[in-house]
Amino acid sequence: MAERPYIVGNWKMNGTRAMLSEARAIDRAAQRHMKVEVAIAPPYTLIHAVHREVEQIGVGAQDCHPGTDGASTGDISASMLADAGAKFVIVGHSERRQGHGESNALVRDKAQAVLDAGMRVIMCCGEDAKTRDAGKAASFVTHQLKDSLPGIENAADRLTVAYEPIWAIGTGNTASSQDIAEMHREIRKLLIELYGEEQGGGVRILYGGSVNPENAREIFATEEVGGALVGGASLTADSFMGIALAAGDMLDN
Ligand code: PGA
Repeated sequence: MAERPYIVGNWKMNGTRAMLSEARAIDRAAQRHMKVEVAIAPPYTLIHAVHREVEQIGVGAQDCHPGTDGASTGDISASMLADAGAKFVIVGHSERRQGHGESNALVRDKAQAVLDAGMRVIMCCGEDAKTRDAGKAASFVTHQLKDSLPGIENAADRLTVAYEPIWAIGTGNTASSQDIAEMHREIRKLLIELYGEEQGGGVRILYGGSVNPENAREIFATEEVGGALVGGASLTADSFMGIALAAGDMLDN
């Protein structure tokens, strides 16, 4: 477990202002568990409102446009998100890569835009079931990451990687501890190769894909797991903070 585990909720396309009470409840609970870093990425429409309501947790976005401004109807730039109160942006989520045809090059440009706007990046990666079954998961993820990661000269402390096997997202199937450990070791190797021992060694690697309060302990006990990126189970304070508590317990033991 990382020195300070990072537990991030990805609300995806869920949440109206009625969810602000949930964000407040998450924030209150997080104030009692400062050893764990807690953050949520609500939909764009709630970023500013959540930012105003919370004191402790980080607030971020789920995507952004790579440009700074201009004629791009419906898009939102990184600096606009920072202006709304976002402190980080998730980029390269498989639902963006697959559902919106985002290439590694586009994801890299987005990540660079996030860093340029002074925020932190959560870079997602992960293979589909076919790739895993073909025994190519590690090489796929390594290539995907290599082509998606931006230059992070002096910004390694603003980078987090999230390994999310696509077949585990929203399915109730989590990867085994062995699969997670193997993949996180590969990712660590790549980060050190790209950014050096000190910078690359310090980047937290989160696991994502059907994490819930019941399976969190086993996942957090796995080598090189620095926290979790949580979808469905982040939508209520009870389940989300159950996961954060599990991370805190691992530090105590
Ligand atoms: P899940 O989603 O926890 O609902 O599987 C994880 C994610 O997509 O980030």
